[in-house]
Amino acid sequence: MKNPQSAVTHYRKDYSTPNHRIDRTLLEFDLDAESTLVKSRLDFSPWHLQQAEGLPIVLDGEDLQLECVTLDGKLLDESLYQQTDTQLIIPNAPKQGTLEIAVRIRPSGNTRLEGLYMSNGNFFTQCEAQGFRRITYFPDRPDVLSRFTVTLRADQAAYPVTLSNGNLIDSQKLPDGKHRTVWEDPFPKPAYLFALVAGQFVCQEESITKSNGQPALLQVWVEPGNLDKTDFAMQSLKHAIEWDRQRFGLDLDLDRFMIVATADFNMGAMENKGLNIFNTKFVFANPQLATDIDFENVESVVGHEYFHNWTGNRVTCRDWFQLSLKEGLTVFRDQEFSADMLAKGLDAQQAASARAVKRIDDVKVLRAAQFPEDAGPMAHPIRPDSYQEINNFYTVTVYEKGAEVIRMQHTLLGEEQFQRGMRIYFDRHDGQAATCEDFVAAMETALQEIKPDQDLKQFRHWYSQAGTPNVSASWHYKADESELVLTLKQSCAPTPGQAEKPAFHIPVRIGLVSNTGLDLPLQLKSPKNALSGDILNFTETEQVFVFQGVAKGTVPSLFRGFSAPVQVRAEYSLEELVFLARHDNDPFNRWDAGQQVFTQAIFEIYQSSGDTSGKLVQAANLMMADLLEDPSLSDGFRALAIALPSENTLFELFDGLVDPVALHFARQTLREYLAACNQGPLLKLYQARATHTERYEYNAVAAGKRALKNASLAYLTVDEPGQSLARSQFLSADNMTDRLGALNLLAHNAEDAQSELDQFFNMFQKEALALDKWFMTQATTPASHPAGNPLERIQALLKHPAFNLKNPNRARSVLAAFAMQNPSVFHQHTGVGYQLWASLVIELNAINPQVAGRMARALDRWSKLTPSLQTQARAALEKINAHDGLSPDVHEIISKALG
Ligand code: PHE
Ligand code: ZN
Repeated sequence: MKNPQSAVTHYRKDYSTPNHRIDRTLLEFDLDAESTLVKSRLDFSPWHLQQAEGLPIVLDGEDLQLECVTLDGKLLDESLYQQTDTQLIIPNAPKQGTLEIAVRIRPSGNTRLEGLYMSNGNFFTQCEAQGFRRITYFPDRPDVLSRFTVTLRADQAAYPVTLSNGNLIDSQKLPDGKHRTVWEDPFPKPAYLFALVAGQFVCQEESITKSNGQPALLQVWVEPGNLDKTDFAMQSLKHAIEWDRQRFGLDLDLDRFMIVATADFNMGAMENKGLNIFNTKFVFANPQLATDIDFENVESVVGHEYFHNWTGNRVTCRDWFQLSLKEGLTVFRDQEFSADMLAKGLDAQQAASARAVKRIDDVKVLRAAQFPEDAGPMAHPIRPDSYQEINNFYTVTVYEKGAEVIRMQHTLLGEEQFQRGMRIYFDRHDGQAATCEDFVAAMETALQEIKPDQDLKQFRHWYSQAGTPNVSASWHYKADESELVLTLKQSCAPTPGQAEKPAFHIPVRIGLVSNTGLDLPLQLKSPKNALSGDILNFTETEQVFVFQGVAKGTVPSLFRGFSAPVQVRAEYSLEELVFLARHDNDPFNRWDAGQQVFTQAIFEIYQSSGDTSGKLVQAANLMMADLLEDPSLSDGFRALAIALPSENTLFELFDGLVDPVALHFARQTLREYLAACNQGPLLKLYQARATHTERYEYNAVAAGKRALKNASLAYLTVDEPGQSLARSQFLSADNMTDRLGALNLLAHNAEDAQSELDQFFNMFQKEALALDKWFMTQATTPASHPAGNPLERIQALLKHPAFNLKNPNRARSVLAAFAMQNPSVFHQHTGVGYQLWASLVIELNAINPQVAGRMARALDRWSKLTPSLQTQARAALEKINAHDGLSPDVHEIISKALG
């Protein structure tokens, strides 16, 4: 393990090109769990044509046992190369030549799940970002693109299926019970997109026809016994291929496209060229085992990895600082894919509602996870300037905020010009390793084709500046002129390394809602040219916008559809918020207005230590009653509209220091109050959806219906008759959404849910993903549970025979669930929650640094805690920090948290 004391910081400004290209790469694997032999042949040539002779060849490598190196056929003795813990350097290399290297590695001992590792006796690789260097010596950097040919030799009986990137060009039985396959990838690629898989697998396959008339083979590979879970992933893949063709004009460029599922995976999935490797969680889906959310996730992750084939693989990243080039763009693409799929086949109104539900879900993630990141010690621009451990920068900022930055460009250009920009981007950079700047420049060219006087100069600050901009909005009405004068101010708090920040270019989608609930036409008097369609270009620290022809009583609706990733403070009166929650024609803002009313009501309870007689709680209650009765709302939307903001979102929104335990109880108090006041309508909503049950199908309408049913039940289970309803729903459910929904509510609210928990366990003990849910349900039992002491339950879970810290999904199902999704128990005043977390992070650090690094982030926002909790938090952080043998991953997180 690298020594964190010597932790190096890498800077974006230090980028320099390598000395050599690797034009071709031949790899040969003799697969063996204890000792795999990897032989490589690298044909290299000078990076620059006129380059001098004698520059060193620099190869990365970690934990490799070097057997031999030859250069142009001649064995090199140790004086002719330098070997360190992390590199192999050949000084004085010729400009051009061939290197042959043999190393041995031990897959069975690889618990980090980076490089070549084993899962259930099968071989898998994970190379992004820097895993290839754990397989063989190579320039492990994304700007070195090479054409790979891979030979796999393995025992035929133990590993009958052997796969790698590209096309299968040879397959043979060998005399000694072994077999051999040869794979050739026609496209040059960086090493992080390399993959191999070997072992016992079965597959579902289908052939499709590409736009050029050629056939392509699609395969989904899983361990035997799981073929009953692959239909939906295959459907999703076909939909993704079709969608990318239709909407982006991009087709599959390979004859074969494979997805393989593994139970042991650090992340969601990986876009290796032609051989995507997935966490089973994002492949397996059938009604008995997967919830609606799981189905939605499978579709979006299958889409995401497929879309990377163009945005990530055909055009890749020059260096890891450019990660958002592929990730932000690909998340934007998968979000649009999901929205289009949800809306497919619906009438205009239902379609708009289904899209809004998707948008709300995405923004909830941003607010609950990315806003805190942007306000904490790990804050970084979507294109970071520095990192210690790149694994720590696969963040909600790079991914989700990155997608928002792409979405804003889409907003500024419109769909047609945005697609034009995409074509310019591919024309310029196909087959290259590019930068974020290259992408913006392509979009700017497309923008100037239609608007020659505009540019994206100021817009580029979104790439270089961290922090969530705060926008305050105030307005007044000039009755004599029928004008509404809107003042917007923006600021952005300092983040690490960035004290002052110039103003952002912020697109504000705006509507003016008249007192009859209709949108008025937008007539901007000044400043000239700041309005384009319904988008205001807000570019200065403070800007005044004057609208004409505005009727009295009109309320502005700002940032419709969440048109920019900012925190808005608008001077709405309570009445105006309630009005928007009832009448805003933009469904996102309608939802958001309601959430603000709930938020204020919860804060009112929090600050009055439990009093529900205040005017905000009363307003929230009236609004709730309205939402429950309004027949114009779709089920999916209504489910979101009646749900209270999450504890993590509330924590972030509160002005000042927070006690998460008290905040939980305040939220709980509002929930109980709303449930008591609205029991009749809630029961009616529930029963109307619980009695007519069709066979389970995953689509926006059916999922919306289940969501509203379970959102109503969530209120009702504060006591009876809701808990009895939940018990019978648990028993009679024919799908995981309803079964798990009921189980969660019972486990979190009922005095005793042991019988349901036991039944669930017995039903699903052979299904790892369902067992993860069983662990997670219990690990998120809140402090308000009537039987008390949820932490003891969590400690018992850790000792359960089915618990296993080595499996990332299982580890997350307890550790992340408890430390990141269960604030009232994690932040309990004794500090025991923090201590338990610290010891688990230390334990996981030795097994899997990447996952440990993620778990280590649970106390990122500790400076927002009340003083006594801060003292406890610091002690836990210091305990981790003092641990010997901390990985660079965990070290970076903890040292930044301690400041
Ligand atoms: N590139 C993967 C994705 O976003 C994520 C990933 C990163 C997976 C690192 C594994 C390791 O699709
Ligand atoms: Zn991705």
